[in-house]
Amino acid sequence: MNLAFYDAIKQLQDAYLMFPAFQTAYDQIEENLKLYRATGVAQNLLILGESGTGKTSLAHAFTESYPKQVLPERDLLPVLHVSVPAAATIAGTVEAVLRQLGDPEPERGTVSAKTARAVRIARGCGVEMLLFDEAQHIQDRGRNYTQYFVGDWLKSLMDALGLPVTLLGLPRTQALLQANEQLRRRFTHRLSLSVHQGSQEANDESSLKLFRALSDALPLPLDARPYGWKELGLRLHYATDGRIAYVKQLLVNAYSHAVNQSGTNISVSELAHAFTATIWPLGVGALNPFHQDFGFRSLDRLGEPFQLGDTGGEVSGRKRK
Ligand SMILES: Nc1ncnc2c1ncn2[C@@H]1O[C@H](COP(=O)(O)OP(=O)(O)OP(=O)(O)O)[C@@H](O)[C@H]1O
Ligand SMILES: [Mg+2]
Repeated sequence: MNLAFYDAIKQLQDAYLMFPAFQTAYDQIEENLKLYRATGVAQNLLILGESGTGKTSLAHAFTESYPKQVLPERDLLPVLHVSVPAAATIAGTVEAVLRQLGDPEPERGTVSAKTARAVRIARGCGVEMLLFDEAQHIQDRGRNYTQYFVGDWLKSLMDALGLPVTLLGLPRTQALLQANEQLRRRFTHRLSLSVHQGSQEANDESSLKLFRALSDALPLPLDARPYGWKELGLRLHYATDGRIAYVKQLLVNAYSHAVNQSGTNISVSELAHAFTATIWPLGVGALNPFHQDFGFRSLDRLGEPFQLGDTGGEVSGRKRK
């Protein structure tokens, strides 16, 4: 593999695309920030997406647009981006908040002392928006009562600060809101980050558009034969479940394979190979979206790569075929 090969892969990895769902979510967070700046009204938002739909990337992209400013008299931190720790106790969550606020001793003090300190520092740093990533970790402790406690704690932190909050998490985060009425009332506005939303036709098109936009970063062209572009779009939709992470993975692997084979384009057989290699080892024949025998159905049954997760009791937006 030569330098140009690695360059192409890196360019692809680094490529950021404001695909429609990503852009809508970004705009809504920004709108909430502007609303708060202009009126002091704190509007909250819940952003749901399966793994690999770009939640963390979105939170990073937004935080980078409103970076920390080091001023002579104090640091300004307009957007506070916190990842809720895996075993989300109140202590662990408030420590994560304190760490992001630059507190030198996040473990010090009782939970209420820590919370009071977090509120004080956040005000001091001029925080205007809270972004909580991995919000499902609050829900994951739901087998015992911790979930309620962490949820209640979050609600009281939000009330104390009066800032707009954006929660980002897996679809099962919804269950947190179902269990906690007070949080539910605060997060009535919800968005999904999946590439495919709306009609089936729009879905095929959006997966293909994304794929072609990303493949533009590569030196080899994409070849849809023996299918047409529309059909390839549909197959891509089933192969990636509309998740940007899978779209990228598929493309990187297909490109590497094409280069290995000294190919002059990224063909359907490379995509079929990439699907088995990076997304689902058992995805062969009728279970491989790029194979001519593919059954054109969502691969979301038990043991399949996009097996539907626990969405918290509500039916997911996706239909089982
Ligand atoms: N807008 C985008 N444009 C291009 N690539 C993206 C975009 N958003 C995410 N990606 C890529 O998709 C991959 C997964 O993204 P990310 O980690 O943000 O997903 P996630 O929803 O946070 O997943 P998880 O739930 O597993 O944490 C990353 O490799 C990232 O580079
Ligand atoms: Mg993430």
